[in-house]
Amino acid sequence: MNILELPEWKKQRRRLTMVTCYDAWSAKILNDTGVDMLLVGDSSGMVMHGLEDTIPVTMEMMVPQVAAVHRGAPKKFIVADLPFLAFRSDLKSNLEAVQKLMQAGAQAVKLEGYDQHNHELVAHLAKSGVPVVGHLGLTPQFVHAFGGFRVQGRSDEQRRHILEQARGLEQAGCFAIVLECVPQTLAAEITSTLSIPTIGIGAGLGCDGQVLVLHDLLGFTTGFKPKFVRNYMNGAELMRQAVENFREDVVSGRFPSEKETYE
Ligand code: KIV
Repeated sequence: MNILELPEWKKQRRRLTMVTCYDAWSAKILNDTGVDMLLVGDSSGMVMHGLEDTIPVTMEMMVPQVAAVHRGAPKKFIVADLPFLAFRSDLKSNLEAVQKLMQAGAQAVKLEGYDQHNHELVAHLAKSGVPVVGHLGLTPQFVHAFGGFRVQGRSDEQRRHILEQARGLEQAGCFAIVLECVPQTLAAEITSTLSIPTIGIGAGLGCDGQVLVLHDLLGFTTGFKPKFVRNYMNGAELMRQAVENFREDVVSGRFPSEKETYE
């Protein structure tokens, strides 16, 4: 995928696909799929490390993940999340964080929220050759400010605010915007207002593309399942069954067989 093609994709209503990826082995499998972008999201903190939210995720966690995904999926366009507050201090530190992610193998960075600070940073990055994806709506790094993981943009005031933020991110130079957990009418309005693509998660069919967390898509996530998640397989059950089969074969002496043993 080439980001210069995206305006044409938008005109042709060609839908974009993005999935999260945090490691080389799954990246290797995804490299052979038609999915357009891999997102090394800070959701890795919750999915891979069992954290309650993404707040504790650091650059030290993100950089090796980006490098691993790049090694596994050299053909894919990789977007890397700037973790909590890694882009909210002085310009020099913000650029150092971006530099680490890009030099580890990302082709773009994603940052949550929009205000004057983010506007200036996105504009600076865009001029410096760094493609940037914005992220609005239920931005998980704002979980405490939002009083929990709640759908955003339900009131008229919130709708206006998110629409303004989306316009601001486009003006600043983002090439795409992730819209998370907003009403579908708002996502559709933003999508038709902007000339850059929107990528929805829990934002309905009106977006230009969709993103899902890979482990949700594969059914590896156990416990609470958000309404917007579709499981394309029951990974947790398949994995449990496979490991049980291995255990039973070992206990009963059926593994290893002659064929699996050196002379
Ligand atoms: O970190 C992440 O996985 C994300 C997606 C939910 C869009 O930001």
